[in-house]
Amino acid sequence: MLLFGRHYRSIWVDEQALETVCVIDQRHLPYRLVIETLRTEEDTAAAIRDMHVRGAGLIGAAAAYGVWLAVCRAGSDPGQAAQAAGRMLAATRPTAVNLTWAADRVCAAVRAAGDPPSARQAAYLEAGRIADEDAASCRAIGRFGADILAGISRRAGRPINILTHCNAGSLAFVDYGTATAPIYEAHRRGIRLHIYVDETRPLNQGSKLTAFELGQNGIPHTIITDNAGGHLMQHGLVDAVLVGSDRTTRTGDVANKIGTYLKALAAHAHHVPFYVALPISSIDWQLTDGVREIPIETRSEDEVLSITGQTSDGRLETVRLAPQGSRAANYGFDVTPARYVTALITEKGVCEASETGLKPFRPD
Ligand code: MRU
Repeated sequence: MLLFGRHYRSIWVDEQALETVCVIDQRHLPYRLVIETLRTEEDTAAAIRDMHVRGAGLIGAAAAYGVWLAVCRAGSDPGQAAQAAGRMLAATRPTAVNLTWAADRVCAAVRAAGDPPSARQAAYLEAGRIADEDAASCRAIGRFGADILAGISRRAGRPINILTHCNAGSLAFVDYGTATAPIYEAHRRGIRLHIYVDETRPLNQGSKLTAFELGQNGIPHTIITDNAGGHLMQHGLVDAVLVGSDRTTRTGDVANKIGTYLKALAAHAHHVPFYVALPISSIDWQLTDGVREIPIETRSEDEVLSITGQTSDGRLETVRLAPQGSRAANYGFDVTPARYVTALITEKGVCEASETGLKPFRPD
């Protein structure tokens, strides 16, 4: 991804330092680029829990490297250290399935390796593969998604308007993103588009991260309040909704940032196509009923009761928005049932959001 004129991934190993992982601390964006170094599984867990890093693919890759860091410091039983680290990392955020999936993959590689030096090497290589595969999947999603946008653009015969929610961008994955990848690819192909970016309260991943990413890549965009999407769709101002997913069931129900479901309902009411872009790694093949079965993260009420931004002298400051004594509920995600999803865009192709549609991608 292009940030401040340079290409970055959202996570990488510092090859000059001993067993050190670097991430972009996203709490400082869009104001400053702060690189954080992670040296232990505890550092990694804190970075995930406190959302220095966030987004389904990125927290998966971070968990994979967290297990590697644990194995690096393990004594004679790297398998046990990997397992314990995997459990701790998976518990940091419950909704995205990539955390468990990635930690399990590294644990399996460690178990298969045997002695501690081979285990360290195996964990390092597996974590690297997970990160590389994540970026490659997002790139492929971009190509499939851009074909859809090309069709919409041809039919419209004018610049098209896409609405997106939260940040399913390069910053939420290792590179390219899911919802943003088709946008970047379409822009590269010369398709004229404009993006409506939901600000995405309470943490404002839309106005802080998606708007920042799009701006860095020269994509025309407008930030809207989370409540504006229905109005825009009612007035024919949205050609498609394109969002990501933190966990998708085998039947095509999609958990994504809180507020996504309302966008899907509005899109359905106004016949606006609603696309979800996701890597196959984020499908939970065990689940069939997303509304009942996907665990929804609840976070601190302080995130709702206050807001953080930059002061004119460059400091990050948090101010309270609500009366002292008022309480808040902070649900991180909601589930959009498959019937409201026009299609899923994966790295293996576009499919119907249903058990039948997803069947060709099932590992078993
Ligand atoms: O809470 P976050 O920021 O980790 O939430 C993840 C998201 O950004 C979204 O739900 C996103 O649209 C899908 S995950 C890439």
